[in-house]
Amino acid sequence: MKKKYIIWMMCFIGNTILLATELVPLPITVEVDAKKVALGKKLFLDPILSKDKTLSCMSCHNLKHNGADIVKRTKGIDGQKGYFNVPTVYNATYNFRQFWDGRAKDLADQALQPIANPVEMGNTIPKALHDLKENAVYVKAFNAIYEDGITKDNLADAIAAFEKVLITPNAPFDKYLRGDKEALGASAIRGYALFKEKGCISCHNGINIGGNMYNKFGVYADTKSKELGRYTLTHKEEDKYVFKVPSLRNIALTAPYMHDGRATTLKESVNLMVKYQLGRRIYGEELRDLVSFLQSLTGELPEIVKDINVSTR
Ligand code: HEC
Ligand code: HEC
Repeated sequence: MKKKYIIWMMCFIGNTILLATELVPLPITVEVDAKKVALGKKLFLDPILSKDKTLSCMSCHNLKHNGADIVKRTKGIDGQKGYFNVPTVYNATYNFRQFWDGRAKDLADQALQPIANPVEMGNTIPKALHDLKENAVYVKAFNAIYEDGITKDNLADAIAAFEKVLITPNAPFDKYLRGDKEALGASAIRGYALFKEKGCISCHNGINIGGNMYNKFGVYADTKSKELGRYTLTHKEEDKYVFKVPSLRNIALTAPYMHDGRATTLKESVNLMVKYQLGRRIYGEELRDLVSFLQSLTGELPEIVKDINVSTR
């Protein structure tokens, strides 16, 4: 009986791993409403949304580089430090929820929160709407798209529309998945196999290679995290240190890593994952191969950001 059970368990685990191996490439293009996207882009780049007109979304989400920042915890209004490492806005549209703790259900739900966050843009939504209404260019642009012109929902909708085109297709790994077997080197191919064998794929899977479930940071050992993750929202003991499993797309560009930016290199991140999430250790060539695989997840920046030439700070 016991033996049967073990065999059944092995089949079950085997199937689960097989199912989870189906990573899919990003689409090359997406359907968009061009007017909304243009308006959303203007808003994303415009410090008009912040309290003292010094910060735009772009200040912390650098679209010319990684859609994120390069520091552990970025500085918001009046130089205040935020609590989390900035996640990239690239491919965020494919995350099942937004923010590390998943408190926003989608991009539109997320878009107004940084504006009103006291340590980010430090503004209020009524004040931001007021300032937009004073601006003839925005009044015209909103009226051309939305019957009710400048409202908080339309502001969120336009920003979210722009973010939907912030996708980075054609990573070497995606080309490989599409059938171009030359797109990956031998080390990255071995790394992909390890990614499946070691079980990384059980949490980082789907179109974003992550971003589609929550999990505890520290399954096998205490990570000494200061942030409590989903517990902050639910107050359930089992949600302590539970975060959204981040997407690994463009991961080679988005250092530092983890919700608190505690890891500065991919090597360090893989070591942390192996120890805390898988309860194992990894050395030498295997570690290098996994890093090579992660490096193959860097895609191409979309056409729409090519003409941006504002500096981030
Ligand atoms: C001061 C820096 C800062 C500014 C300005 C800022 N963000 Fe962020 N953004 C962050 C940080 C930090 C997080 C993570 C916060 C968290 O998870 O609680 C984040 C998270 C996000 C996410 C979630 C991504 C994911 O994968 O969960 C999106 C989308 C996003 N920001 C878009 C925007 C937009 C749109 C604006 C402008 C309206 C903006 N941000 C302004 C720092 C900033
Ligand atoms: C049990 C689920 C689970 C497994 C297995 C897992 N991860 Fe993770 N991974 C997570 C979670 C959750 C986070 C976010 C941790 C935090 O709170 O900062 C994460 C974060 C990461 C990050 C940092 C991402 C960023 O944007 O900062 C990398 C890189 C990563 N994982 C790679 C891997 C690799 C490689 C493996 C296999 C060796 C792996 N993970 C296995 C759940 C998992």
